[in-house]
Amino acid sequence: MKISVFGSGGWGTAIAKVLCENGHQVTLWSKFDEEARVIDQKRENPLLPGVAIPKELTITTDVDAALNGIDMAVIATPSFAVAETAMLIKDKLPGDCIVVCVSKGIEKDTMRLFSPILRDTLGAGVRLASVSGPTHAEEVARGIPTACVAASEDIKVAEAVQDAFMNDYLRVYTTTDVVGVELGAALKNVIALGAGISDGLGFGDNTIAMLMTRGLAEMAELCVKLGGKKSTLAGLAGLGDLIVTCTSKHSRNRRAGVLIGKGMDVQAAMREVGAVVEGYYAAKAAYQLSLQTGVDMPICTEAYRVLYEGKPPIEAMRDLMGRARRNEDSGAETWVG
Ligand SMILES: NC(=O)c1ccc[n+]([C@@H]2O[C@H](COP(=O)([O-])OP(=O)(O)OC[C@H]3O[C@@H](n4cnc5c(N)ncnc54)[C@H](O)[C@@H]3O)[C@@H](O)[C@H]2O)c1
Repeated sequence: MKISVFGSGGWGTAIAKVLCENGHQVTLWSKFDEEARVIDQKRENPLLPGVAIPKELTITTDVDAALNGIDMAVIATPSFAVAETAMLIKDKLPGDCIVVCVSKGIEKDTMRLFSPILRDTLGAGVRLASVSGPTHAEEVARGIPTACVAASEDIKVAEAVQDAFMNDYLRVYTTTDVVGVELGAALKNVIALGAGISDGLGFGDNTIAMLMTRGLAEMAELCVKLGGKKSTLAGLAGLGDLIVTCTSKHSRNRRAGVLIGKGMDVQAAMREVGAVVEGYYAAKAAYQLSLQTGVDMPICTEAYRVLYEGKPPIEAMRDLMGRARRNEDSGAETWVG
C-alpha cells in the first residue's frame, strides 16, 4: 500500500517505521521544514533517540506530494492539530483512501472526539478508523511486543488497518466501537495526570490502584452515555492504556502530574515535560462532558479543578476521599452490570 503519515512527532515517526517495515511505501509528512530536515539528514527523530529511520521512508513537508495516489492517510498530530490537518488534506485526499487517526484526545473547545471532526471535514462517506491502546512510541519504535485496537464503524475498514499495521511485534485487534476507543484514549490521560499528582504528593500504590479503578468506572459510565460499549473500556483502549499511562516512566501525563503534585505550577510543569500533555486538554473536555451529560466524574472533576482553577492537589485528594459513602456498583452500574 501507499501510505502517508501526517505528523512527525514521536508517534507518527514510530508508526511510519512500523508501516515501512511491513513493506508499505511510506511518506512521513511534517508541518515544519526544520524538523523534516533534521529527521531526513540524521535519519533519526530527536524525539526517538537511538531509533534508526528506515532508508525507504520518505520525509516531506509537501502536502500535495504526500497525498498523491495514497491508499491510506494516518493522522498522528497532537490533538490540537487534528482538525487543522484534516482541513489541509481534504481537497486532495484520493476518493477511496482510508483515513486512520492515531492521535488521542478530545477537541478542547467543541469537546468532540476525532471521528466526528474528521467526518465533518472529509465528508460523510470517508473510510475512517481510529487506532489506540497501550502503545508508547519509544517501545513500538524498538519492536517491543505491543497490542492495540483499530476501531471503525465499518469492520472491513478496521480489518484493512489491522492488515496494514500488524506484524510480529505489533498485534492489532479490531472493533466497531469507535466512541469507546476514542473516549478511552482521551480520558485515560486525565486519570494518568491524577495518578502522577498522587505520586507527587507522596501517596502510595494503593492510591494509584484506587484512581485507576474508580477512574475506569467513571470513564465507562460516560462512554455508555455517549453511545459506546463498557466492554471496550475493559480492553486495550481502556484498561490497557490506563495501566500503561498511569504507571509508565514514558508517560508525559503522569510526569506532568508528579511535578504538579510536588507543588510546581501547572503551566511550568507542562513546559518542563516539554511535549504535549494531552490530559490537560482532555480534563477540561471531561469536566464539561460530565456537566453536560450529568455523569458523575469525581476524579476528572478534581483534576480539572487542580489544572484550571488552581485548587491545591492535597485538597482535591481530600475531597475525593471525603465523598459520600457508596455501594461500589452504584452510579457505575453501567460498568459492572
Ligand atoms: N508518543 C506516544 O507514545 C503516543 C502513542 C500513542 C498515541 N499518541 C498520540 O499521538 C499524538 C501525537 O503524539 P506524539 O507523541 O507524536 O506527540 P509529540 O509531542 O511528539 O508531537 C509533536 C509533533 O507534533 C507536530 N506538530 C505540532 N504542531 C503541529 C501542527 N499544527 N500540525 C501538524 N503537526 C504538528 C510536530 O511535528 C511536533 O514534532 C498525540 O495525540 C498522542 O496522544 C502518542
